Amino acid sequence: MKIQYIGHSAFKISHDNYSILIDPFITGNPMAAKVDLNLNDILVTHAHGDHLGDSIEISRKTKIPVTAIFELANYCAKHGANAQGINMGGKIPYSWGHAMWLPASHSSGTPDGQYGGVPSSILVNMGGVSVYHAGDTGLHYDLKMVGELYKPDISLLPIGGFYTMGIDEAVQAAKWLGSKKIIPMHYNTFPSIKVDANEFKQKIEAIGVECIILKPGEWFQF
Ligand code: NI
Ligand code: MN
Repeated sequence: MKIQYIGHSAFKISHDNYSILIDPFITGNPMAAKVDLNLNDILVTHAHGDHLGDSIEISRKTKIPVTAIFELANYCAKHGANAQGINMGGKIPYSWGHAMWLPASHSSGTPDGQYGGVPSSILVNMGGVSVYHAGDTGLHYDLKMVGELYKPDISLLPIGGFYTMGIDEAVQAAKWLGSKKIIPMHYNTFPSIKVDANEFKQKIEAIGVECIILKPGEWFQF
């Protein structure tokens, strides 16, 4: 299993001949890497433009299915995407494994002001590895539940502050999740979320957890 950082909160996860994209914010993302659209599925955490991103456009062109919370999926379908609506806590089966949408403490409206359902995080299981994408979120106690029940092998956590938790809260989230490896996301894309990722790395490594800082385009092989 391998993970490519596209930039912001966008990641590609691949195993064997399968690939998925999470939160594909490419157009308008000043740090986005080039994305290979050879994909099985697109998974979306919430409706904000920097997460829904290019999902509708890609799906319209390629028919690649977009999975999102029911209300957001309906919005995507209305705009021509091949969308699958799901909801919190269900184990969704895929050709490449399974995924589960879980809580996030945030908001969720589409760029044109429509209701996007609830915001979420996503737990992906592919190739026997579990990857937890925390979405946009403040620190919340359900992260402890995710750690206790699902023990994700690797967690992707926002650290930029302002719209999400910042460095110190993300360190606490990492403690609760119990993952051995953490990849920071949602920082330095815009001036309001500029932070020092090395400060996060030092604090994460001080609790005995590996911190993997990826540049847009870089892969991490699990
Ligand atoms: Ni957001
Ligand atoms: Mn965001």
